[in-house]
Amino acid sequence: MTHAGPAVTGALACALAFAVASPAARAQDSAALLAEGQALYETNCAICHQSTGAGRPPTFPDLRGNDNLSDPYLVVSKISQGLGNMPPFPTLSAADITAIATYVGTAWGNSYGGPTEEEVAAILAEFPPAEASRSIWDGVFTAAQAERGAQVYRAPCGLCHGTRLNGAPDDNDMVPGPALARQGFLRAWDGRSLGMLYTYTMSTMPQSNPGFLPPEDYAAIIAHMLAVSGASPGSEELPADPWELGHIRIGPEP
Ligand code: HEC
Ligand code: HEC
Repeated sequence: MTHAGPAVTGALACALAFAVASPAARAQDSAALLAEGQALYETNCAICHQSTGAGRPPTFPDLRGNDNLSDPYLVVSKISQGLGNMPPFPTLSAADITAIATYVGTAWGNSYGGPTEEEVAAILAEFPPAEASRSIWDGVFTAAQAERGAQVYRAPCGLCHGTRLNGAPDDNDMVPGPALARQGFLRAWDGRSLGMLYTYTMSTMPQSNPGFLPPEDYAAIIAHMLAVSGASPGSEELPADPWELGHIRIGPEP
């Protein structure tokens, strides 16, 4: 009796209507959905909205007690399509988004609940379908673009992240930033998309003046980061487009 009915809060039980399940089975299903939602949230959302949901206002909104979360259309469309510095997540399925939306609607004392998978699927049907997923190892940038990214990177980023992108700052007076390439970086970002990396970088870096470079320069810097990490160039440039970048997965070399 580890998942007895009373262990589930009223709000959660209402949010998750399972037609003909016993209370114990229902509690088990909702616990599994929340666990899945939490895991997806940690990978895809926590870097901006934080594990606590507090975000980093004004850049990244606080999701705790945020009444916008009572609108399932707003939550589902923002997760799928993004907006401004919120990256789109075109490769998440209706089941994934149901789990995440239920988690953010229920965690941190929130009592907004979450949509059913049918509701999520109906909202997703209004948007363009996802394209084929690729990985950073599929030749997703050009050699010339990475070269240009190395030039753009040097002054505004090397200062803290190091010319070698290893997190050893060029200027010893600066706060060292994390490594931006190679195994450690790829492991930290494993399972995330370039769309996330692009919007996170553009909305927070360089720390003194986020977003001051043109979008194409941020894309070129990412091409440079991938080249230094050992990925091979291909024939097409990495686009400065969060939707396109949202289809390209980061991870260690297969
Ligand atoms: C790169 C940073 C970033 C990541 C990653 C990110 N978000 Fe956001 N999120 C934002 C920003 C910026 C906004 C504000 C967008 C706007 O409304 O203009 C936002 C808005 C939202 C909103 C609407 C809040 C409101 O007040 O309207 C929700 C809900 C949300 N995000 C959930 C998520 C979830 C769930 C994930 C993971 C699947 C996620 N976000 C990933 C940056 C991010
Ligand atoms: C003043 C120092 C400083 C400068 C300049 C700077 N960064 Fe950062 N950067 C940091 C610190 C500190 C962090 C870790 C905290 C955070 O994510 O905000 C970070 C985090 C990052 C991350 C996330 C890494 C991770 O694994 O979480 C990326 C990507 C990044 N920076 C890219 C850049 C790029 C690209 C530039 C140049 C346009 C740049 N930074 C300029 C200090 C800096």
